[in-house]
Amino acid sequence: MCGIVGCILKNDKAAPVLLDCVQGLEYRGYDSVGLATYSASGIKIKKDKGKIKEVSEKLHLEELPGEIGIGHVRWATHGLPTKENAHPHTDCTGKIAVVHNGIIENYKELKDQLEDEGHQFTSQTDTEVIPHLVEKYMSQGVGLEEAMNQTISKLHGSYAFAVISTDEPHKIMGVRKESPLILGVGDGEYFLASDAPAILQHTRRIIYLADHETFIMDADGVTVKDREGQVMDKEIETIRWTPEMAQKGGYDHFMLKEIHEQPEAVKNTLFEVSDIKKIVSKFPEFKRITFVACGTSYHASMVGKYLFEGLLGLPTDVILASEFEFAANALDPDSLVIFISQSGETADTLKALKIANKKAETLAIVNVLGSTATREADHVIFTRAGPEIGVAATKTYISQLTCIYLLVACMSGDKELLEELQQVPDHMKKVFSYEDKIKDMAAKYKDAQDFFFIGRGFSYPTALEGALKLKEITYIHGEGYAAGELKHGPLALIDDDVPVVTVVPPGKSHDRTLSNVEEVKARGARVIGLGSSEDQVLKYEAHDMVEFSPEINELISPLIYVVPLQLLSYHISVARGIDPDKPKNLAKCVTVE
Ligand code: G6P
Repeated sequence: MCGIVGCILKNDKAAPVLLDCVQGLEYRGYDSVGLATYSASGIKIKKDKGKIKEVSEKLHLEELPGEIGIGHVRWATHGLPTKENAHPHTDCTGKIAVVHNGIIENYKELKDQLEDEGHQFTSQTDTEVIPHLVEKYMSQGVGLEEAMNQTISKLHGSYAFAVISTDEPHKIMGVRKESPLILGVGDGEYFLASDAPAILQHTRRIIYLADHETFIMDADGVTVKDREGQVMDKEIETIRWTPEMAQKGGYDHFMLKEIHEQPEAVKNTLFEVSDIKKIVSKFPEFKRITFVACGTSYHASMVGKYLFEGLLGLPTDVILASEFEFAANALDPDSLVIFISQSGETADTLKALKIANKKAETLAIVNVLGSTATREADHVIFTRAGPEIGVAATKTYISQLTCIYLLVACMSGDKELLEELQQVPDHMKKVFSYEDKIKDMAAKYKDAQDFFFIGRGFSYPTALEGALKLKEITYIHGEGYAAGELKHGPLALIDDDVPVVTVVPPGKSHDRTLSNVEEVKARGARVIGLGSSEDQVLKYEAHDMVEFSPEINELISPLIYVVPLQLLSYHISVARGIDPDKPKNLAKCVTVE
């Protein structure tokens, strides 16, 4: 996840304005930053790795000349955070500059072709193919707009990009496809950004672009065209956001924003499938899988166990990273040891990775490019969640799960599962229509002292993750339990009014979990049911219910059923006057053992 901006101003220098705009997008990435401006002396670029403040103090980004320019903040996806990989990227001549957010899925193929044709690349990014393609088409005699359109026709993946060229100065062009992009209309001045808050200081008049729409901006205005190249009559909307809300993209907290970004995180992570297929093709025959992780990543690993054992018949262990040294002696050399970590820097996980590297093949599933785990493991898969600021993991969890499902689908050749994964973003979006109801539930249950979360099989890790979210950000005691195990102890703790969240999607464990619902109800518990909208029994038994599409079966449910549990904890946290982004005593990245 990166952020792009651009502007055409009347009299002022563009660079200080671009700098201000990229600062508003720092939540989208902070590995590196860069600006390109156009003036009589051509396109000038300043960029480097590091936070905006550091790079700006070092390079004086605001001193770039010209009234027109583009800018970028990067969250590395292809290529480490380095100066060379920072945007804007240029063609061979330096006459075309591009900023891009998204993933060009077929960039390797395009890069090989362009290199064969003599183009010189200077970065490891997927983005750099864009200016080279534009250069190629312009050198064949077409204008910038036609070159951009021909370029777009070659790209697979998700992208929002903006391009400037010295051959057609005083213009910015761009496109949106599955990556956010908005345009801003000022008083004879024009802006573009990944997100409206970035340009709030300059204008509140916004044009929202839809997928496949292109734009051309110059001093006279903005033209938006549809996929067929027809000029559109786009509405200009005036938004009412305060700059304080800006960084959070209009949400009250980063956590809420990150929960709502999960459909996008899944979509971006699904693009990893081609890299995962390549990794899998190099695997020897493994006899065992061992997952190692902490916290939320441990719960993602548990889902992995059900998948590997259920779909591949491979014996699978899940070990807490802090306990790994005690199990390492028994590690099977024919194992694949999979390390799950959003940060790639958790001390316990890194220590375990060092030990495992000496004994077996290792794979790290990580969100942060260039983090220690990515350098130590034999294989690496990236979760494309973008930066997660809230301490409690949400979208990184969903992206970890997506990677694990992809890995299992690639190892088993299960095409049906791959297809089912494509539906997950839409299923998730439907959950958000329940948010008001979940907020009401939060108000109702916010003073409970203990919560139980129960589920069987694939729903057991979901129950554990629901309980962990509750503990982390509401400070209420929450306990996740395998539904069938409840009767062996915890049932003694159930009495009047204890909320029991029951995760019961359609599938083979459904009826048995409902028997456990009966057991807790008989002891006075208040049941919050998560199940299919066609589940009449659950509807009858539960005091409150969150309904899901009946198409979501047990197998795929961990990716979707956890979303209302994240929302429930979030809204309870807010109702209790807690800042969910910064829970007490906890840290986003734990670098001590
Ligand atoms: C901390 C974070 C959790 C995270 C855990 C593991 O406790 O607060 O959200 O799940 O570390 O972190 P990792 O980066 O290894 O996934």
